[in-house]
Amino acid sequence: MNWYEERWKWCSEHRIRVLQNPVEFKQALEVVKDKITINKALEVGSARGGSLYILAGICAPKARIVGVDEGLRKNSGGLNAVKDQLIKDGFDTSIIFGNSGDVETSTQVGSALPDGEQFDFLHIDASHIYESVKKDFDTYKTFVRPSGWIMFHDIKFQGVPKLWEEIKLNAAETVIISTGLNVRTCATGIGLWQKP
Ligand SMILES: C[S@@+](CC[C@H](N)C(=O)[O-])C[C@H]1O[C@@H](n2cnc3c(N)ncnc32)[C@H](O)[C@@H]1O
Repeated sequence: MNWYEERWKWCSEHRIRVLQNPVEFKQALEVVKDKITINKALEVGSARGGSLYILAGICAPKARIVGVDEGLRKNSGGLNAVKDQLIKDGFDTSIIFGNSGDVETSTQVGSALPDGEQFDFLHIDASHIYESVKKDFDTYKTFVRPSGWIMFHDIKFQGVPKLWEEIKLNAAETVIISTGLNVRTCATGIGLWQKP
C-alpha cells in the first residue's frame, strides 16, 4: 500500500469521509509534492478532516498544519480526531473553528504563524458560492509566500469556475486535474495556482 492509500485507509477506519475524488486528489497532491516542500500548510474548509489528514502525507516532518472550518457539530468530532492524530505524528497542528469570511478567523490564521512567515500551500474548499470562494482567495492568498501553491477543489463546479477564469492568467503557473465531471464521486476538478 502506498502513502496515499494508507492515509485514505486511516480515514475509512476512523469513519472520516474524505470529500475528494480519490484519483483527482492523489494526482493533485503528487504534482504539488514534486514542486515544493511544504513546511506550512493551510486548509480552508476542512469538514471532518479527511483532506487535511491526507494532505499531511506530502508535508515535511513537523510541518505547521492549520485547518479552518465553521465547525458544524457533525464535522468537529472527526476534525478533532485528525488534529490529535497529526499532533501524535509530530505535525504542529491547529484547527480554527470559525467562518472563513470573518475578520476574527483570518486574524487567527495570521496569528497561527510566527511573524513574517507565510504558508507554502493553501487548499481552498469551503463555501463554493462565487462571492465566498473569491473572498477566501483574496483573504488567504495574502498568507501564502511567493511561489507557494493554492489548490482549489471544484474548479468545475458552482461558483469556482468563474473565479478560476478570472485568476488563471495572474498565476506564475497553473495545473488542472480533472477526470471529467461527476458530482456524485466528487470528481469536480482540482485547480492548482502558483502565486507569482
Ligand atoms: C466541501 S466541504 C470540505 C471537504 C474537505 N476539504 C474534504 O475534502 O474532506 C466544505 C466545508 O467547508 C465548511 N465551510 C463552508 N463555508 C465555510 C465558511 N464560510 N467558513 C468556514 N468553513 C466553511 C463546511 O462546514 C464544510 O465542512
